Amino acid sequence: MNNKNSYVSGNRKRSWSSGNGGDENCIANRRRGLPIYSAKQRFLSEIRRTHTAIVIGETGSGKTTQIPQYLLESDLAGYGVIACTQPRRVAAITIAERVALEQNSELGDEVGYCVRFDDTTSSKTRIKYMTDGMLLRESILDPVLKKYSIIILDEAHERTVHTDVLLGIVKGAQEHRTHSIHPPLKVIVMSATMDVDHFSHYFNQAPVFYIQGRQHPIQLLYASEPQSDYIHAALVAIFQIHQKAPAEEDILVFLTGQEEIESLLKAVKDVAQDCPDDCPGVQVLPLYASLPPSMQMKIFNPAPRGKRKIILSTNIAETSVTIPGIKHVIDTGRVKAKSFKAGSGLDILRVQRISQAQAWQRMGRAGRESSGNCWRLYTEEEYENLKPNTVPEIQRSNLSSVVLHLLSLNIRDVLHFDFLDPPSKENLVDALNQLELLGAMQQRNNNELTSLGKQMSVFPLEPRLSKILISSRQYSCLDEVLAIVSMLSVESILITPNNKREEAHAARKKFLSSEGDHITYLNIHKAYRGVGGNKDWCHDNFINIRSMKQAEEIRKQLRDLCIRENIPRSTCGKDTTSIRKCLTVGLFMNAAELQRDGTYKTLDNNRHTVSIHPSSCLFQCKPAYVLYQELVHTSKCYMRNLCVVDPDWLNDAAPSYFRNRCISR
Ligand code: CDP
Ligand code: MG
Repeated sequence: MNNKNSYVSGNRKRSWSSGNGGDENCIANRRRGLPIYSAKQRFLSEIRRTHTAIVIGETGSGKTTQIPQYLLESDLAGYGVIACTQPRRVAAITIAERVALEQNSELGDEVGYCVRFDDTTSSKTRIKYMTDGMLLRESILDPVLKKYSIIILDEAHERTVHTDVLLGIVKGAQEHRTHSIHPPLKVIVMSATMDVDHFSHYFNQAPVFYIQGRQHPIQLLYASEPQSDYIHAALVAIFQIHQKAPAEEDILVFLTGQEEIESLLKAVKDVAQDCPDDCPGVQVLPLYASLPPSMQMKIFNPAPRGKRKIILSTNIAETSVTIPGIKHVIDTGRVKAKSFKAGSGLDILRVQRISQAQAWQRMGRAGRESSGNCWRLYTEEEYENLKPNTVPEIQRSNLSSVVLHLLSLNIRDVLHFDFLDPPSKENLVDALNQLELLGAMQQRNNNELTSLGKQMSVFPLEPRLSKILISSRQYSCLDEVLAIVSMLSVESILITPNNKREEAHAARKKFLSSEGDHITYLNIHKAYRGVGGNKDWCHDNFINIRSMKQAEEIRKQLRDLCIRENIPRSTCGKDTTSIRKCLTVGLFMNAAELQRDGTYKTLDNNRHTVSIHPSSCLFQCKPAYVLYQELVHTSKCYMRNLCVVDPDWLNDAAPSYFRNRCISR
């Protein structure tokens, strides 16, 4: 289906994508060539008439980059700012950069982005790309969001917890503004695919606007039998394609997370070296949420001449970003997602099967510019057994952050909040109980936040971590917990290549603490600062410099927030006991006790059997009591990021919680 505006022509695409930035004609042509362009006037007149609209259009049709510009250029935003929310920071950053280029302005002037720990907007900014989490935070200070005249909730089908809560808050703000002195708020909900009727009904039968996209035929190939190792299967599939297909046909592989991506990346590079001489070269690029923006931008550039671009991505590439040049999609059928059941105490991030809807989205990535191929690394029968749709994250997450947020907006009756799809009552009650145990609120006081709770809601962190920072006052260890919390906020500080496992462990031995991973992180942080963030030092010690830099940024921002909140600077020197006591006041609900058979049992009501994750510095040890940061479920249930504690501290941190639990000493 090649329509006359098609932008398939290789040269034009390549020169535009190379980010030379100067060629305004080329950019204008590109903008006019997008499917949404022909619908522009129809769209604008529709938006003029209505307060709320739902916009549906294929990925790549130009919704995210163009619609905010159309709204600005047509003066529909008045004096207000146009916000466009994204579930992922990668998307918010890359798109803002692109749109600033299209507007021929510097990032931070007319167009800017705002993501957690990084805000490039200024008083001049009129189009603001932001993560849904950031808009949510802004709503605490300004519940009717009066700064904005138009709010676009993009990628709504992703149904992240933040988007789902925002839907309710933005809907409430809009209602409030129609009945007050504030100028009205327009709301646009956008997506590639979604249950249109459901959204339209939620917004009082809002009109739906469809954008005709382009989709070229895609050949679908299934695995002939189930694959036990999907990463290996992906490697095999990459080289099957690589040996046959012309060099300019790029490959996109869907994987589940950073570690997996980095290790496959290395394997692909290694295998590529042994390919016959007549094989093209490869340029292998990772794409995941915590990748620094400069690295993310690389995926949009064409590969060097004669080389094939192979992108290894998480589900980010499903809809949030459109990558030019993709001809082959390899779908492992897996995604890393949260699963949580109230009452079970298990808040687990685990690799799961995708839904059928996700499988179709992934396949669609292969047919954006011309016909393509999609290789599903699972059988047709396995596909038939997948769930038709993804369950919204809000129905499978621990809701303590969400509930704290609602309470900080003074929405006390959280059980009746106007959710698009309400989470279970049990789940909400569970969150209220957790917040009460943390000392953030009191249910007998009509769910009123305590002063601790109010302060906790200021930090862009989960409640347990905010409490740890605030509690550093009592233990005189703010410097230390700031370092630890910021390192916990990034993915994989340690790099452990499969073929250099022992070397990596030996190099990092000097940092290991018998008191657990948190203190080990602290040791790494001290050493890193001691060498001034030296690159070679990171390399030699198998430390991920990108993650360390990101953690440093986060640490500084959290430190500034602490200063604003009057949390005094303090350090405990070498006395790590205070740090571990301070961690206990936030993490006491995640405690586990060693059993005679060498396994651990969690100390909540469920008494789950858990083990120490092999990546933990305590893997070979058997401390009697530990706190864990999270549980991951692979072959069994593992605790990750552990801290050795004394049972007395548990009792001190939450006497009522532990009163009826027998800590056997
Ligand atoms: O939102 P939607 O999926 O409808 O499309 P979009 O994100 O507005 O993308 C429109 C076009 O801009 C696509 O062809 C993308 O490849 C391109 N784009 C880009 O090259 N670089 C970016 N940072 C963002 C978009
Ligand atoms: Mg988009």
